[in-house]
Amino acid sequence: MTPHPMPRRRTVLRAGAGSVAASALVAGCGSDDDGPGGTARSASPSTPPAASPSTPPAASPSSPAAAPSPLARTADIPVGGGTVFEDEKVVVTQPVAGEFKAFSAVCTHQGCTVAKVADGTIDCPCHGSKYRIADGSVAAGPAPRPLPEERIKVSAGTITLA
Ligand code: FES
Repeated sequence: MTPHPMPRRRTVLRAGAGSVAASALVAGCGSDDDGPGGTARSASPSTPPAASPSTPPAASPSSPAAAPSPLARTADIPVGGGTVFEDEKVVVTQPVAGEFKAFSAVCTHQGCTVAKVADGTIDCPCHGSKYRIADGSVAAGPAPRPLPEERIKVSAGTITLA
């Protein structure tokens, strides 16, 4: 009879147990971007939109240099409409023939510059607010307040900021 071959011994894998636990600990660290404390926000709402060349500057008349520079000629402001002067942040309207009004061109909602005058309203491009050309009151929100009135002087066919 031949002797039995040696019974196979069970081999215990010892090396793996400790290193697997260590790996799990390492994997649990290092993530900073979970949870509600993040600061991801959309772009600042106060950023004004890109300027649009909606209104050409008034032609420079041959006036004396000492006088305040005119904003516009009365003939340049359409009856029942108006013109936005982006550099001066002013919008001038002519609700009825010969009656001129001026308002701040800075929207009372979040400060964008109004972009155009159309269909009896001064329109903000950012969130759609509309103001009436006759008094600057809010015709459509979200603007919370009317556009503040600006003082102008109308003389000899010229409109000047007062
Ligand atoms: Fe929001 Fe003008 S800034 S509507």
